[in-house]
Amino acid sequence: MGALDNLADLLGPIVTYTIVFIGTIKLLGWIYYTSSFIKKFAFTWPLDIMERYSGKDTWCVITGASDGIGAETARKFAGLGFNCCLISRTTDKLKSVEAEIKKINPKVKTKLITANFFGKNSIEFYKDLVSQVKDLDISLVYINAGIMPSGHQINMPVEVMQHLLDVNVYHYTMLHKLFLPMLLERTKQGKRSWLCGTASVTWLGYARPFVHYTATKGYDGYLSTAVNYELKRMGKRADGADPNLIDLHCSTPMGVGTNLVKPPIKERVWIYFTHRPSSYVDALHKDMG
Ligand SMILES: NC(=O)c1ccc[n+]([C@@H]2O[C@H](COP(=O)([O-])OP(=O)(O)OC[C@H]3O[C@@H](n4cnc5c(N)ncnc54)[C@H](OP(=O)(O)O)[C@@H]3O)[C@@H](O)[C@H]2O)c1
Repeated sequence: MGALDNLADLLGPIVTYTIVFIGTIKLLGWIYYTSSFIKKFAFTWPLDIMERYSGKDTWCVITGASDGIGAETARKFAGLGFNCCLISRTTDKLKSVEAEIKKINPKVKTKLITANFFGKNSIEFYKDLVSQVKDLDISLVYINAGIMPSGHQINMPVEVMQHLLDVNVYHYTMLHKLFLPMLLERTKQGKRSWLCGTASVTWLGYARPFVHYTATKGYDGYLSTAVNYELKRMGKRADGADPNLIDLHCSTPMGVGTNLVKPPIKERVWIYFTHRPSSYVDALHKDMG
C-alpha cells in the first residue's frame, strides 16, 4: 500500500500538470482560431483588386455566370469596373445578367458565351471556348459552374453522373489547364492575376445523399490546392513568367441560397441556414489576394 501511495503521490502531479498543459495548448489554439475567424469576418477589408490585378480595362471571365454565385460575382466585379465575359448554357439568363451589369456600371464591356458543358468532355471544345477570349486582357478567372444532383450511387442514372463529371470535373480541369498559361503570360509584364475555382465545403466530409457531388468537389478542392502548391514552388521562370503573381484560390461555399441549394435544403427544412449570394461574394472578395 505504501509503495502504491508513493507512486500515486509521484504520478498525481505529473498527470495533473500534463492535463493542464494540454488543456492550455488546446485553449490557446481555440482562442487563436476564434480570433482569426472574427478578424477575418469582422475586421478584414477587401483589397483594391483593380489595383492588385492591374485591372483597368481588363476582363473577368466567369463560368456559371447566369445564376447564383457566378451571377452575383459578375455583378460585384462589374461594379468594381471589370469588363465581364459571362459563360453558361442559357443565353436568356446570360442576357438578363448582362442587363443588370449594364445598370450597375454602364461603362463596362460585356461578352456572352453560351456553352453547355454536358457531353463536351473533349479538349477541342475547351480550346475553342478559350480561343473566343484569347484577345482579351484577362485578369480574373472564376471557374464556377457546377451542378449538384442528389441520390444514391445505386439509383443515380448514368446520364446524371456523366453531367456531373463533365461540369464539375472536366470543365474545371480543362479551364484551369488552358487559362493558367494565359495568366502566366500576363505575369511577364509584372501583372498579377486571380484564378479561382469553386469547390464546396462538402468536400471536407461525407455528405449523404450527395456522395458523387462531394467526390467531384473533393477533386476540385484537391486540384486547386495542389496546382497552387506546384506553382508557388516553381519560382520565376527563365522566360520571365512569375507564378508568384498568380493568386490561385479555391472557394468553398456552404448554404448559399441559390438554385443549386434551394431544393435539397428545403427538403431537409434547412432553408433558414442559407445566406444570400451577395454575402458570400463579399466574403470571396475579402479573400482575394
Ligand atoms: N450554393 C451553395 O451553397 C454552394 C455550396 C457549395 C458549392 N457550391 C458551388 O458553387 C458553384 C455555383 O453554384 P450556385 O450555387 O451558384 O448554383 P446555381 O445557381 O445553380 O448556378 C449554377 C451555374 O452553373 C451553370 N451550369 C450548370 N450546368 C451547366 C452546364 N451543363 N453547362 C454550362 N453551365 C452550366 C448554370 O447555368 P444555367 O443558369 O444556364 O443553367 C448556372 O449559371 C457550383 O460549382 C457549386 O457546386 C455552391
